[in-house]
Amino acid sequence: MAREFARVGVVGLGTMGAGIVEVFARGGIEVVAVEVDEASATHGRETLEASTQRAVDRSKLATDDREALLGRVRISTNLDDLADVDLVVEAVPERLELKAEVFAALSKVCGPETIFASNTSSLSITELSVRTERPHQVVGMHFFNPAPVQALVEVVRTVVTDPEVLSDVTGLAVQLGKSPVVCGDRAGFIANNLLFTYLNQAVGMFESHYAGREDLDAAMRYGCGYPMGPLALMDLIGLDTAYEILDTMYRQSRNQRHAPAPILKQMITAGLLGRKSGRGFYTYAAPGSPEVVADSLTPPPPGQEGGDQRSVQRVGVVGTGTMATGIAEVFAKSGYDVVVRARTEAKGEGVVAGIRKSLEKAVVKGKLSESARDETLARVRPTTTFDDLTDCDLVVEAVAEDLEVKQAVFGALDDVVKQGAILATTTSSLPVVECAAATQRPDDVVGMHFFNPASVMKLVEIVSPITTAPDVTSTVRAVTAKIGKHPVLCGDRAGFIVNALLFPYLNDATAMLEANYATADDIDSAMKNGCGLPMGPFALLDVVGLDVSLAIERSLYMEFRVPGFAPAPLLEHLVTAGRLGRKTGQGFRDYQKK
Ligand SMILES: NC(=O)c1ccc[n+]([C@@H]2O[C@H](COP(=O)([O-])OP(=O)(O)OC[C@H]3O[C@@H](n4cnc5c(N)ncnc54)[C@H](O)[C@@H]3O)[C@@H](O)[C@H]2O)c1
Repeated sequence: MAREFARVGVVGLGTMGAGIVEVFARGGIEVVAVEVDEASATHGRETLEASTQRAVDRSKLATDDREALLGRVRISTNLDDLADVDLVVEAVPERLELKAEVFAALSKVCGPETIFASNTSSLSITELSVRTERPHQVVGMHFFNPAPVQALVEVVRTVVTDPEVLSDVTGLAVQLGKSPVVCGDRAGFIANNLLFTYLNQAVGMFESHYAGREDLDAAMRYGCGYPMGPLALMDLIGLDTAYEILDTMYRQSRNQRHAPAPILKQMITAGLLGRKSGRGFYTYAAPGSPEVVADSLTPPPPGQEGGDQRSVQRVGVVGTGTMATGIAEVFAKSGYDVVVRARTEAKGEGVVAGIRKSLEKAVVKGKLSESARDETLARVRPTTTFDDLTDCDLVVEAVAEDLEVKQAVFGALDDVVKQGAILATTTSSLPVVECAAATQRPDDVVGMHFFNPASVMKLVEIVSPITTAPDVTSTVRAVTAKIGKHPVLCGDRAGFIVNALLFPYLNDATAMLEANYATADDIDSAMKNGCGLPMGPFALLDVVGLDVSLAIERSLYMEFRVPGFAPAPLLEHLVTAGRLGRKTGQGFRDYQKK
C-alpha cells in the first residue's frame, strides 16, 4: 500500500519553497510552512497569494479553489509546528551547513516516520542524510522553477535510501500531477548535470572565438529545435548561479568539462551576471528585462557586412542523393539557375523527379502555385559532365561522405570551373580544408553544411578553414540568407557547432545510463520536461541511428582527444550487436516493425 501524505511541511518560503507549498496545497494536502522570521514569513505568504491570484486571473484556478488552497496552508516561524507531518521538504538557501542544521533540528522535532526531502540543486543528499538519525528516510526532491508550472521532479536516492521511501515520494509526485524521475546522488542530478556540461562547452566555444554568440545560439535553436540557445540560457539562469553549479559538479567529479570556463569568472567579477544585471553574454534594455539590445558584438545582418561580395547567379550542385536533391530544390525555388552534375543520366533525371515530387506536395498543400512549380523546375538542368559547371558562380558538392571521393570532385571542379567561383562542400564530418587542399584555389573553398531535409531545415553552418578568403565567407553568408536559410559562421573543426555540442551531451547521457545512474526513460523525461528539449537523448540517438552517432562521436574524440568524448562502450556494443536504432527496429528501445 502506498503511503498517504495528509500533512507535509516546507521549510523556507523563498522562490522555490513558496512554489512547493502551492503544489502541495493544490493537491489537497495540508501544508505547514516554516520561515526563519516574521518578515520572511509575510513575504512568503505574499508570494503564494500573488501566484495563486495569477492562476485565478488566467482562469487556471477557480476563486473558491484558491480560498480552499490558501486555507490548507499554515505559515509559522517555529520548527516545532512540524511535529506531526508525514514529509518535510527543505528549501532554504543552498548552503550545506545551513541545510544540515535544519535537518538536525527536524530530527529532534519530527516523529520517527517522517520522511525528509531536500530541494537542493547541487549539494549531496548523502551528506545531508548523515546529519539526521534517519539516513534511510532522506531523499532529494528537486523541483524546477517555477514549481507550480514545471512538471519535472528529480527524486534523488542515496545508497541507503529505503526503496519504500523512494516509491512513496515518487508516488506522491505523480499524485501531485508531476513527472518524477529517479536518479542517484550526483551533483547536478540528471538535468543540470547534462545541461550545464553542454552550456559550459558552448561558453568555451564563445571564449575561444570559435563562433559568435548569436551564431552559437541560432545553431542550437535551428539545428536541434532547442527553445533557447546556450548563451541566452546562461544569461537567463544567471552566470553566478551557473558558475556555482559547475564548480560543485567539478569538485565532485574532477571532470575537466565541468570546470567553469574561465570567462565566466571574469564576467561575474565585472558584474555581468546575465539578464538580472542587464548584461551578460548579451546586453538587455534594463536589469531584469528580457529584451536584447544591440551592442558592439551584434553582427550585421547577412549581406550587409560591407566589404567585397562576389556575384552569384548560377549555381552548380554535384551529387544526386538526398542532400543534393534538397539543395538543388532550395536554390531553384529562390530563383537561381541550377546545374546538377550526376554520374549518369538516370541519376540526373532522378534529381529532377525528386524535386518535382517535393514541389508537387507543396502545390497540393496550397503552399506553391502551379506556375511557380513549373518555373522552378525549368531552372534545374541535369548534366553528366563537369564541363557544364564552367560558368557557375557557386558550386555545392554533396557527394558521398568519403574524403577520396570528395577530393576527386574538387580536383575536377578546379580543372573546369571559372576563376573567382566559390566551391562549397556540404560535408558534415570531414575537414573542409582537405577539400580546399585538393584544389589550386583553396581561398575559394568553404563549407556549407545543410541539415536534412534541406528544403525544411533552416540552419546552414558556414565553415571557413584558415584558407578561406573573407569575401567568400561573407558572400556565402548572404546567399544563404537569400535562399531563406539561417547562416551561422564557424571554424573548421570536427562537428562544427551543432554536432560538436550535441554529441558529447548524447554521449554523457549514454554514460549515465551505462553507470545505472538513472533509466533511459527517466533521462529522456528529465531532458524533455526539465530543459524543454524536443526529444530526450535516447529517443534522439535512436532516430539519428547509433552507427551514425558512433561515427560522429569517434570523429569528435579523435579531433579533440577529450576523455569524456570517447564513445561510451554501451553505444559501441549496441552497434556491434546490430541495434542501430529505429531503422533496425531496436536501439536503446525496441520499436514495432512496420
Ligand atoms: N531558484 C531555483 O531555480 C531553484 C530550482 C531548484 C532548486 N533550488 C534550490 O532550492 C533551494 C531554495 O532556493 P530558492 O531559490 O528558493 O532560495 P530563496 O533565497 O529564494 O529562498 C530561501 C528561503 O529560505 C529562508 N530561510 C533561510 N534560513 C532558514 C531557516 N533556517 N529556516 C527556515 N527558512 C529559512 C529564507 O528566508 C528564504 O525565504 C536551494 O537549495 C536551491 O538550490 C532552486
